[in-house]
Amino acid sequence: MSKIIIANYKMNLRLEDYKNILNKVNKKEFKDTNLVLCPPFVYVPYFAKVKKFFKLGCQDISAYKNGKYTGQVSADMLRDFGVEYVLIGHSERRGFETNEEINLKVKSALERGIVPIICVGEQVKNEAVNIVLNQVKSALKGIKEGNIIIAYEPVWSISPGELPTVNYIDKKINSIRNCLQKLGFDCPVLYGGSVDDTNIAELSKSNTDGFLCGGISLKADKFVSLLRGINE
Ligand code: PGA
Repeated sequence: MSKIIIANYKMNLRLEDYKNILNKVNKKEFKDTNLVLCPPFVYVPYFAKVKKFFKLGCQDISAYKNGKYTGQVSADMLRDFGVEYVLIGHSERRGFETNEEINLKVKSALERGIVPIICVGEQVKNEAVNIVLNQVKSALKGIKEGNIIIAYEPVWSISPGELPTVNYIDKKINSIRNCLQKLGFDCPVLYGGSVDDTNIAELSKSNTDGFLCGGISLKADKFVSLLRGINE
């Protein structure tokens, strides 16, 4: 399977900037690339309208079906716009959501056929791998099956951060895969944190199934170089 590339735009840029990015990225050249773009909620309808050669994701989902949850967006609403993937448990959100909410969000996505991209990672370099494995286990608590993706993102590597060695990434990803196997899941495990067009060749030597990209996805030309590098 070709590597999965996910762009997490976070809360950056404006509509005009996204038009420029999509002029370069929403191209036939990338039709065989497993590319998932995750814009802020308000730009989801625009991405949905122009989508041709990428898949649509978003950056969060409500844990609940509907009701008195001001400001939240449900799985059904996202489905209305063809959202197929959702980032859940990103380290920038873990500060204000609990493991239980993350688990409910994963369930909410799966129930509506949206693939949860569950983000896990230790805060500090060389921290015990159990911290990461516990994040995986609690996100999947009570879930027996379903299409999921795990994104291993050591928090200390998120830009501007330090790039882990391939060996470091391999060890963590192997532990995550063993853990997933015990839980009955056989799913892609991605790496994220300071990925860019200059280190993608080196990072591709690791045993990851793809990459979660933040900062580099905001720079259209560099992101295009990264996508071309992946396809080589
Ligand atoms: P980065 O962000 O690529 O800018 O390090 C990755 C992420 O936070 O998902």
